[in-house]
Amino acid sequence: MPLAPVLAIDGPSGSGKGTVCRRLAAALGWRLLDSGALYRLVALGAAAESVTVDDTAGHAAYARTMDVAFGATASGDELILLGSRDVTGLIRTESAGAAASRVAAWPAVREALVARQRAFAVLPGLVADGRDMGSVIFPEAGLKVFLTASAEERAARRYKQLMEKGINANLAHLSLEIAERDRRDATRPVAPLVATPDAIIIDSTRLSPDTVVAQVLALARARFGVG
Ligand code: DC
Repeated sequence: MPLAPVLAIDGPSGSGKGTVCRRLAAALGWRLLDSGALYRLVALGAAAESVTVDDTAGHAAYARTMDVAFGATASGDELILLGSRDVTGLIRTESAGAAASRVAAWPAVREALVARQRAFAVLPGLVADGRDMGSVIFPEAGLKVFLTASAEERAARRYKQLMEKGINANLAHLSLEIAERDRRDATRPVAPLVATPDAIIIDSTRLSPDTVVAQVLALARARFGVG
């Protein structure tokens, strides 16, 4: 188990985890694990290597060996490289999210990513963003937060996010996709999305990202004596 302090933040798509976790990591000076990006990278990268869509073992083998680098551009924007290919934008599309949700339901793929995820826990600390951070990957995390929001609010946020990025989207279609992804992520037999009994639940439906960040930072200060 990690010696570095871990702040685990789990929750469904569109709950605001991405924004909140990035800001928490920056505020604390801690490393960030975007575990959803890893599942997105497996789906995208395996397809590019001609692994067939239902080849579980092929995807798991790819997950174990894929060459991923999380970094930032000179202007501070996120930069994700798969080998030498910049896939930062490509992995954020709705189709990449749906493909990620499919491969994430396979136990062999999840198992293949465990060690890679745990290796992110280094000093001074880690903010871990995902679905099973507090339940499976970092069960001994010092602080676990389950961030949620109503399905309508999550679809509306996703819509706004996509439009801002210039990606075309349809709100009704997005709502259906989010509902389907929620269902798949919450009902899969391995590592389903759950709030562990020791997680603090924050419903962000009516809260701004600033408020959520402030609430979690206050919890982190109390728990870890940092921030
Ligand atoms: O957080 P995200 O939308 O980038 O995640 C993409 C998919 O990956 C999501 O539908 C479920 C899956 N996922 C997972 O199963 N476990 C994680 N720790 C993170 C993401």
